[in-house]
Parts: sequence; structure tokens; C-alpha cells
Amino acid sequence: MSCVCGADSLEIPEDILLSIRKAKRVSVLTGAGISAESGVPTFRGAGGIWEKYDFRKLATPEGFRDDPKLAWEWYRLRQIEIQKAKPNPAHETIADMERHFEHFAVLTQNIDGLHKRAGSRNIVELHGNIWRMRCTRDGTTIDLDSPVGDIPPFCHCGSILRPDVVWFGEPLSNEAMDAASKAASESEVMFVVGTSAVVYPAAALPILTKNSGGLVIEINLEETDLSSYADLSILGPAGEVLPVLWRKTAFPERFMTEHPIIANR
Ligand code: OAD
Repeated sequence: MSCVCGADSLEIPEDILLSIRKAKRVSVLTGAGISAESGVPTFRGAGGIWEKYDFRKLATPEGFRDDPKLAWEWYRLRQIEIQKAKPNPAHETIADMERHFEHFAVLTQNIDGLHKRAGSRNIVELHGNIWRMRCTRDGTTIDLDSPVGDIPPFCHCGSILRPDVVWFGEPLSNEAMDAASKAASESEVMFVVGTSAVVYPAAALPILTKNSGGLVIEINLEETDLSSYADLSILGPAGEVLPVLWRKTAFPERFMTEHPIIANR
């Protein structure tokens, strides 16, 4: 079932609203699209990162081994870009949702840390975090609170440090994947926001929810491989759609007062 909308004309079937209101276990799977309205570019599609940059040089262990300085230059630029970005209403709505459900998890493919800055607490970072570096020798991690200085950075043991993010061809951490799979299979509702749903294993998480009898609600600018599988696919910008969807779900009375035409129907 799909619904093309501007947020103002968002019509959500009542049974779906009821299912969200009744749910005790909810999760949100997010991708780069949720941060697009914060000014952080997505990876795919027009103007996407992988159209401009060669992922083999910047996001594979082999690329890093061949030229760590080049990879770090790029990650520093991304850190500068992300440092300037602020969480948008989609991140903020998700942080607010967490306060209303007994169990709530944000499963994110993003490395930008914007969910945390918006106030979300139970976050599984599937692809790591750009504000963390990892020793290539023993895996020790070091947190950063500003863009990396000297490039490439070195660990106190003398080994080179790498960004603590997951690159193509690398496995996700068992801990992150176990937590995400558990949350997904236990979710009565999963929102899938701003992901092209083509990178696995993250793209399989909504399938776990569906297979366990949960509802999958997608929010994206365009249809994805997941759309036909989702119980509801809402086409629109996350920063506009999520706040309206959440107001309609959690505060129907308030929504009625704010939109008297609907209230008078
Ligand atoms: P993609 O760049 O593949 O997809 C972004 C999705 O967001 C697209 O489907 C867009 O239509 C949608 N989108 C864009 N702006 C939006 C908006 N304002 N509101 C709602 N949707 C919007 O990003 P991911 O799916 O996150 O991995 O990519 C997955 C992984 O591939 C990334 O984590 C990264 C990348 O290579 C690694 O680096 C390992």
C-alpha cells in the first residue's frame, strides 16, 4: 500500500494508526536520507556521494591500505560537513517517539551521530561512527569531538588509526547485528526512513519484522525495493512526513484542534 503525499495531505489508514498506538515494541531503521534535510548528502541517486567519489579508494580496506592519507582527507572533509549539520525534525521526532513506547530502538546505517545529538538513546550504529577512530593493530578505539587533526593519525602504539566505520566487504560487528536483529524481530512496528534498502544485512532487518508479524512503514522520497513489501509506503521528505505522522498517531486530539477542517468533518 503506498501513499504519495506532501505532509499536509498525509492520510494514514486508521488501522495502521491504531497498531502504532497499541504497540509496545517499535523500531526505526534509518539511512542517509534522514540526514539529507540536515545538509548531509546521501550515497546514491543524483548528487549522491558514490557518484562523485570512488568508494573503492575511500570505503574499502584495500583502498585504505593503498592510500590512508587520501581516505583520511576525505573523512576529515565529511567530519567538517557533519559537524556543521544539525538534527532535523525527522531526527527530533524519532527522539520524541522513544519516550512513548516501552521498547524502542533506532537502528541506523548512518555514521553521522545526528540521532544522538537529537536526543535518541537506544541507538544501534550498524555501520560505526565517524567520530571514532580504531587502531589497525589491536582494535582500541578513540573518540573524537572535532575533525581529525594530523593525517593519517597514529595510535600511541605506533600503528595507524582508521575511521571506526564499516567499509564494503567488511562484516558488521556481531554486537550491533545481534541487537538490531533482536529489535527487528520483536518489533510490532518498524519505520524504515530514508534508506535505499540495497545494502545488506541492514536491508534485511524490515524482513525480520515482517516475518514475525510486525508492520513495516516506509518513508522515502521515492519507491525502493522495499516499497512493495511494506504495509505502508509514504513518499515524501522525512523531516515533513514524520512529525505529521507522529502528531496524528500520538496526539490525535491536538491534531484535530490544529486542523479544524478535519475536526469538523
Ligand atoms: P542511500 O544513499 O543509498 O539512500 C538514501 C535514500 O534516502 C534514497 O532511497 C533516497 O530516495 C532517500 N531520501 C533522500 N532524501 C530523503 C528525504 N529528505 N526524506 C526521505 N528519504 C530521502 O543511503 P543508505 O540507504 O543509507 O554504507 O545507504 C546504505 C549504506 O550504503 C550506507 O550506510 C553506506 C553506503 O555505502 C557504508 O558506507 C558501509
